[in-house]
Amino acid sequence: MSNKMWGGRFAASPDAIMEEINASIGFDQRLAAQDIAGSKAHAAMLAKQGIVSKSDAAEMRRGLDLVLKEIAAGRLAFSRALEDIHMNVESRLRELIGEPAGRLHTARSRNDQIATDMRLHLRETVDHLDGQLAALQKALAEKALEHAATVMPGFTHLQAAQPVTFGHHCLAYVEMLGRDRGRFADARRRLNESPLGAAALAGTPYPIDRDMTAKELGFDRPMRNSLDAVSARDFVAEVLAAAAICATHLSRLAEEIVLWCTAQFQFVTLTDKFTTGSSIMPQKRNPDAAELVRAKPGRIIGALTALLVVLKGLPLAYSKDMQEDKEPAFDALDNLSLALAAMTGMVHDMRPNADVLRKAAAKGYTTATDLADWLVRELGLPFREAHHVTGRLVSLAEGKGGDLSELTLAEMQAVHRKITAGVFKVLTVDASVAARKSFGGTAPANVRREARRWLKLLDRG
Ligand code: ARG
Repeated sequence: MSNKMWGGRFAASPDAIMEEINASIGFDQRLAAQDIAGSKAHAAMLAKQGIVSKSDAAEMRRGLDLVLKEIAAGRLAFSRALEDIHMNVESRLRELIGEPAGRLHTARSRNDQIATDMRLHLRETVDHLDGQLAALQKALAEKALEHAATVMPGFTHLQAAQPVTFGHHCLAYVEMLGRDRGRFADARRRLNESPLGAAALAGTPYPIDRDMTAKELGFDRPMRNSLDAVSARDFVAEVLAAAAICATHLSRLAEEIVLWCTAQFQFVTLTDKFTTGSSIMPQKRNPDAAELVRAKPGRIIGALTALLVVLKGLPLAYSKDMQEDKEPAFDALDNLSLALAAMTGMVHDMRPNADVLRKAAAKGYTTATDLADWLVRELGLPFREAHHVTGRLVSLAEGKGGDLSELTLAEMQAVHRKITAGVFKVLTVDASVAARKSFGGTAPANVRREARRWLKLLDRG
């Protein structure tokens, strides 16, 4: 046989370039465990349905376990001439158990096999990412509880706006990550259906039991349309979309860490564990891990885009184009996992500098809104007028080069004669955050309650 795979129909071997562009074993070897699990389920089903003998199926299952052991131990040399993981496994199985191996591919195709493998793989990957996301949420919720009353400036337009608490800021990310987990869970729910038994595209004349294989592989049900089963890759796209959004969230926190670590901000400190030095500037401590997490959306959004472009306009059912889903997806999800681990490490490592944060929180007339609110509450001014009066007071303070609390009562009364000394109480950053007890607000009491609620939820798993 001069052609290793298609000896019957093909007389000659493929061109070297044909082999190189066609082969996927370089990357789909990663699906070995899923591929073998699918084959074992298929073998058991073939026997139960009387399509192969019980003894052949037992041999197949025994042999498949051996192949998996060899692969796990790194003892199986994969062959590119055998194209992919499916043919590599089957070929090794034939070497180990002989003839029964040739019956394994009855009533199935590599098309339903690869779709099955990929669904199993993404299901595991999503479960792993979910655990990592929960760990990051926990790290952030713990920081939030510890810093429920640590005031810092809250920004809009990256201009100091109103004081918030560091804990409140951490909990904002806990919420985002919670939605990320929800998106992954949605994707997981939709992808957990079995394509196995769709065969090449049309189903099969053998009396197979697709419910049985679906159940054995932990799928909720078999997919209802064989053409859809082998050609759908929207499940990969959905996982990548969830990954892209999640990576974007991580990059926002990463950017804040980068900013906060600068000499200009000094809001937080990262230790030697999560920083690097410079080869030329001895004073430097660079937040490289945060910068890399900030950059990861590049390749992760890229993977989603690449897959959508591959799928766009692709006719039913299977086309080899779909093999291009794997490398970007593996790369994207590996990198998301790495980014999550690095971010969790940084959150544990990060020390907020409470004094710097407190000073910064007061800078930029951040309690001006509290002053306006006082005018509304105590003097009964309409908010629009209070806003105007406060604006004049800010301008007065700015002219003097000081803060609102440094204005004298007389100076204030020159702007609005009814202002009393009581106003000074609302001008501190602590009073400002403590007053924001509205649902979802930044008050330390709220933050403590929310952090505890999250920690309880996360501990329950
Ligand atoms: N390596 C292929 C893929 O990743 C597996 C399916 C091959 N099917 C085929 N008809 N050539 O999509």
